[in-house]
Amino acid sequence: MSLQVSRPFQIEETPGGAALRMKRLGILISGRGSNMAAIAEAIARGHLNAEIGVVISNRPEAPGLEWARQHGLPTAAIPSRGLDREAYDRLVLAELRERKVELVCLAGYLRILSGGFIREYAGRILNIHPSLLPAFPGLDAQHQALMHGVKFSGCTVHFVDEGLDSGPIILQAVVPVLDHDTAESLAARILEQEHLLYPRAIGIVLEGRYRIQGRKVIAG
Ligand code: GRF
Repeated sequence: MSLQVSRPFQIEETPGGAALRMKRLGILISGRGSNMAAIAEAIARGHLNAEIGVVISNRPEAPGLEWARQHGLPTAAIPSRGLDREAYDRLVLAELRERKVELVCLAGYLRILSGGFIREYAGRILNIHPSLLPAFPGLDAQHQALMHGVKFSGCTVHFVDEGLDSGPIILQAVVPVLDHDTAESLAARILEQEHLLYPRAIGIVLEGRYRIQGRKVIAG
């Protein structure tokens, strides 16, 4: 994964009201898809007023894609082999447009988005990351946290900008790091919180219950 230079989020002040009409989600995954499933379950339980327009995976063999199919969600496998970033993202964008997706949720999607993608969905792309950003961006965040010796870690839902895990933070949840933790045990503790946090953050954005001042997202 290449590291890109972070830049300040460009919207100075956005009243969230404009977001009120956003209801249709596109979820982008590369693997297991447990966050996608948590979002789908929050919708099924009536905790989140939205619908899933499409689940897209760059890996056709992603277990999450199979879960989505079995649960009757629209899916698209779009393999990236042989395509550069812009060309690949044009295919994904075409699928999102076709499905009339209004909010894009990255959920374990192991690709950096192109500038073209981010511009088309400016302020309408969310990501979940398994650390308390800005600590430990990028891959293996739980391992990074253990190696650093932090006593607390957690997860972050943020808007996506052109940097690596660098966009304005919507919500975070904290978990303790225990002395005997492995990357796996810490990841499992964080994942439980991810499944609660992501649907909540999506709800805030869909309902327009936020405004952005500089980098700060003020929810409520
Ligand atoms: C999660 O830990 C998420 O924070 C990170 O990738 C992992 C995806 O897990 N971005 P899953 O595919 O949602 O189960």
